Amino acid sequence: GLPERVTIYEVGARDGLQNESGTVPVGVKVEFLDRLAAAGLRVLEATSFVHPRWVPQLADATELLAALHRADGVDYPVLVPNERGLDRALHAGVAHVAIFASATETFARRNLNRSLDEQFAMFEPVVRRAVEEGLRVRGYVSMCFGDPWEGAVAPAQVAAASRRLVEMGCEQISLGDTIGVGTPGHVDAVLDACATDGTGVDRLAVHFHDTYGQALSNTLAALRRGVTTVDASAGGLGGCPYAESATGNLATEDLVWMLDGLGIEHGVHLPTLVDTSVWMAQMLGRPSPSRVVRALADP
Ligand code: HMG
Ligand code: MG
Repeated sequence: GLPERVTIYEVGARDGLQNESGTVPVGVKVEFLDRLAAAGLRVLEATSFVHPRWVPQLADATELLAALHRADGVDYPVLVPNERGLDRALHAGVAHVAIFASATETFARRNLNRSLDEQFAMFEPVVRRAVEEGLRVRGYVSMCFGDPWEGAVAPAQVAAASRRLVEMGCEQISLGDTIGVGTPGHVDAVLDACATDGTGVDRLAVHFHDTYGQALSNTLAALRRGVTTVDASAGGLGGCPYAESATGNLATEDLVWMLDGLGIEHGVHLPTLVDTSVWMAQMLGRPSPSRVVRALADP
């Protein structure tokens, strides 16, 4: 069966904008988040408290949080890699943080400057302190469906990384297809491995990049398995600067179109969201890659 309702975890302002070659002014980011809230999205990942040299596009995280208009009932999680990031996020008054682990050794080194084991050692005190401070904590696992340097990634390896994050105290695990190579049968295999290893589907979210055009079919496979939180990015913005060949996330509009067709509730007003992505595309100087945005935008 399919769920009656899906929570869309919108990552456009973070995963989308972290990969832009130009810097987006903080005022444009604030307006983007305001418009996403006005379109009905209730979870908006706002930015990352990472090292500003590693991701200069999000170096304005403190400024952004200070300028943000927090809409009623909207959750604004942020990425934090380490204790320094958590300090900065706490100072900015956040209520929800996400750590981001890699399922593979190579990407842990490339993205976090840590080995696979060292990354968990880095996250452990972050999660502990965040929970003590009353924050909600999400854990990402990247490269769950393939790694550009290592190739195939065993589902059991993904499940083991997920379990470690749950044991640390993460309330939700987002399984990332960072480079967009997965297909629906592979989604089943990864969800099976997680279930076998003790991470139930109720804790899982999916995070698909659309590099090979599989993001929507992969999402449907996950929904059929009982996943009810889906990450998406308005207009299909996105990518990871430390992952070769990563392109945009599943476009939120494409997801909403499919959910509407399936009669699954999501709370988003599609025309308002499309207008937002058209506006953002103008700000960025190139058209949205989302098929639904292209189909619905005024000519
Ligand atoms: P490092 O160089 O090993 O850092 O980087 P360090 O711990 O050795 O510290 C070096 C200096 O940086 C110190 O300063 C720290 O204070 C400072 P010093 O004492 O030398 O003056 N520093 C910081 N400053 C500000 N904020 C911080 C911070 N941390 C240290 N948070 C580090 C390690 C983790 C910091 C670095 O590798 C990093 O920032 N990586 C982030 C990479 C990133 O953001 N990637 C994109 C997000 S992941 C993604 O997109 C995938 C996802 O979408 C899911 C999917 O698609 O699969 C989530
Ligand atoms: Mg991503």
